[in-house]
Amino acid sequence: MSEAKKLYIKTYGCQMNVYDSERMAEAMGGAGYVKTDSPDDADMILLNTCHIREKAAEKVYSELGRFKGLKDARPDLKIGVAGCVAQAEGEEIMRRQPLVDLVVGPQSYHRLPELEAKARTGKKALDTDFPLEDKFDTLRHRPKAKRGPTAFLTVQEGCDKFCAFCVVPYTRGAEFSRPVDRVIEEARDLVDRGVREITLLGQNVNAYHGQGPDGRDWSLADLVWALDEVDGLERIRFTTSHPNDMDDALIAAHGDCAKLMPYLHLPVQSGSDRILKRMNRSHTAESYLRLIEKIRAARPDILMSGDFIVGFPEETEQDFQDTLDLIEAVNYGYAFSFKYSTRPGTPAAERDQVDEDVKSERLQRLQALLTRQQRAAQDAMVGREVGVLFEKAGRLPGQMVGKSDYLHAVHVTDPTIEPGQLARVEIVESGSNSLAGRCLPR
Ligand code: SAH
Ligand code: SF4
Ligand code: F3S
Repeated sequence: MSEAKKLYIKTYGCQMNVYDSERMAEAMGGAGYVKTDSPDDADMILLNTCHIREKAAEKVYSELGRFKGLKDARPDLKIGVAGCVAQAEGEEIMRRQPLVDLVVGPQSYHRLPELEAKARTGKKALDTDFPLEDKFDTLRHRPKAKRGPTAFLTVQEGCDKFCAFCVVPYTRGAEFSRPVDRVIEEARDLVDRGVREITLLGQNVNAYHGQGPDGRDWSLADLVWALDEVDGLERIRFTTSHPNDMDDALIAAHGDCAKLMPYLHLPVQSGSDRILKRMNRSHTAESYLRLIEKIRAARPDILMSGDFIVGFPEETEQDFQDTLDLIEAVNYGYAFSFKYSTRPGTPAAERDQVDEDVKSERLQRLQALLTRQQRAAQDAMVGREVGVLFEKAGRLPGQMVGKSDYLHAVHVTDPTIEPGQLARVEIVESGSNSLAGRCLPR
């Protein structure tokens, strides 16, 4: 038997890219590839890229440049670009960086083995179609290997919302939901392989409307309840949600479904109605705040997380103040914040841009506030008893680390704990980035 070829994948961007990279590795497994952790001994290098902000997209080119030496030494080495930059820039990538052999978009990566075969013949290979066949169905090379305790599972992909700043509707295409039975089948398979917690993924995961076994469209709440019945699955999370798709059944599930964890990522982007309108967000600051009240009525201890953009075109100091006010009103446990980045082809790119200095200064103030809230939320865990799913050994002997129900990193020193174990833990200390705890008797 010939020796397996080696595939090195580097992943940028969101969790869906992490999931996609796993699927691509599986597809290439069928073509005789095994994964390697280093580009140095790889037969193929694949960058799974992100186009969301300029910095993310440009990183790809500097990374590609670094492989020149490797390619010169081993001309057989194939270099591929996958993901959202591949979709957005297509052939342009090969023009800008001739060492790229292969470009594949996020909706056609199941065709990766064919593309690789073509690249092996010395031709350039490109596929950025939005094919009619379901890529999820054609990915049949699922190895039965053991997995860690947590996994991502894509249930919805694409976006029809067209926020004025965002490339995702162009790079991922129209909204699509996988059928319920396929999701359940994949969840069962993951659980059989050791997974205890599944995070359902979608660009707008709560817009999920997959076909149910009864032929009707099921909502995300219906799907959560179906997953609740999967034996051995202990925890369910989902991300990312849009405020407008947060229906009453899903809110209620946060109160009623014990497996659904008390953490919700609900991006708002801005607290100014004027800016929200210009962003094409189709919600107001007030409607968002009312929504959070409803969610907290269903699950009072839920930890809220969000995304913010500062310096969107035409944002004034008053608009920015409105965002700070909204943050004060919500009190976030976690958050991601970004300077607005002009994306080619999006409506906001054409508008009056805010100065880079102003953006930087606003981002600093915003992050100072968010960091304070995050810190307070973490510190408030001290003395509380929480569930922790342990994932792996920590740095110190006998130490185990995992995530709490609220997604805080927690470590304990307890040699009896194994990865994959879910334990009740009393939080004793809040450190810089994690909590220290003590396992309670079962
Ligand atoms: N589908 C999700 C998030 C998609 S992108 C949602 O609707 O919320 C993740 C985050 O990146 C966004 O929430 C937004 O805060 C940020 N983002 C998207 N486009 C951006 C841009 N052009 N500049 C800066 N941040 C951006
Ligand atoms: Fe982008 Fe808006 Fe769609 Fe989220 S909802 S992916 S921010 S267009
Ligand atoms: Fe980036 Fe594409 Fe995800 S642009 S954030 S990798 S959907």
